[in-house]
Amino acid sequence: MDFLELSKLRQSCRSFSSKPVPKEMVEKCLEAARLAPSACNSQPWRFIVVSSPEVREKVAEAAFSGKYSMNEFAKKAPVIIIVARDKDKLVPAVGGMFMGTNFSLVDIGIAVEHLVLAAAEQGIGTCYLGIFDEKDIKKVLKLPRNLKIELVVPMGYPENETIRVKSRKLLDEIITRI
Ligand SMILES: Cc1cc2nc3c(=O)[nH]c(=O)nc-3n(C[C@H](O)[C@H](O)[C@H](O)COP(=O)(O)O)c2cc1C
Repeated sequence: MDFLELSKLRQSCRSFSSKPVPKEMVEKCLEAARLAPSACNSQPWRFIVVSSPEVREKVAEAAFSGKYSMNEFAKKAPVIIIVARDKDKLVPAVGGMFMGTNFSLVDIGIAVEHLVLAAAEQGIGTCYLGIFDEKDIKKVLKLPRNLKIELVVPMGYPENETIRVKSRKLLDEIITRI
């Protein structure tokens, strides 16, 4: 598929069908994420793939209840990917401090974009979620302290396949040509 077409196709899915996503499709998305570039090739990402119905239900309840219920649509997704960032490695951390940038967060963003584009290419819906109960997810999954959950990505077949027109700034608003 043409890359621009794929970029238009990828959109936040907030209504998931309960139809299961074949494991090979999820694996393809994870492989795309694995191949992402990162500062000093540090690969700070960790993906916890939650697809067993029992655990998924517990994680979804923990993540998207109470003050996090704005994202409760994600409870229906058959797969939930927890994207965690491992403790910074010394060289990119020092480089990032020098530049006033958090390289590992940039890395996580790139890897997740690989993942969601690979999903879109296969007709699978996803949504970046930055709002969730991190403490309770960590409790349910017994995640170690060195992992910081940065994003949660629900995955599943979209209930509605209509592709929306993107609401974006114009090129002239975001580009300076010199
Ligand atoms: C880092 C990040 C965090 C986001 N967090 C949420 C969220 O918590 N809930 C939600 O519904 N959408 C969330 N979104 C999705 C954005 O709202 C969405 O990408 C944006 O409005 C553009 O729409 P589109 O993805 O359909 O193109 C997030 C997106 C990003 C990149």
